[in-house]
Amino acid sequence: MSETIRVMLPEDELDKRITELGEQISKDYEGESVFLCIILKGAAFFGCELAKRITVPVTIDFMATSSYGSGTVSTGEVQIKKDLDLPIEGKNVIIVEDIIDSGHTLNFLSKVFKDRKAKSIRMCTMLDKPDRREVDVDVDYTGFTIPDAFVVGYGLDYDQKYRNLPYIGVVELD
Ligand code: IMP
Ligand code: MG
Repeated sequence: MSETIRVMLPEDELDKRITELGEQISKDYEGESVFLCIILKGAAFFGCELAKRITVPVTIDFMATSSYGSGTVSTGEVQIKKDLDLPIEGKNVIIVEDIIDSGHTLNFLSKVFKDRKAKSIRMCTMLDKPDRREVDVDVDYTGFTIPDAFVVGYGLDYDQKYRNLPYIGVVELD
């Protein structure tokens, strides 16, 4: 089976929106610093672009969680595959995700982080697919709300492909 990719969000729109998010975060944390916890691999591109646009002091760390394997449907089970290198105690943590689908990943992470005594915890996602939500999550910063479609690019993959596309596209199976 092969697939084609239809552009949903071009690079300039993503760029503009990430700049707005960076400005908003810089304003909200004025006089403080932020600890960006970027969730691998999907949020790597978005998280680094966002970090470049934040003007308050930024610390960056990465965490990897289990994802869908090679399919497009969530299993609902989340595991930490790679933990943060740094402690978050006393920090203003922003968890940076690529996309919220069922909500299981962020729901799980918010529980994990609560036990680590951060000063504050907020969630930031590049994309949100609210139609697919199975558990409630409180998101503080959202790039774009999109309809229910499987998307790739800007870090997001389909079977480990297409992460390097500079835009967000919809996968159409031929
Ligand atoms: P959730 O736990 O169901 O909210 O899903 C979160 C994770 O599933 C994301 O971090 C992505 O890695 C993956 N995911 C969900 N929807 C998509 C999609 O449309 N394209 C690529 N990956 C997706
Ligand atoms: Mg994935």
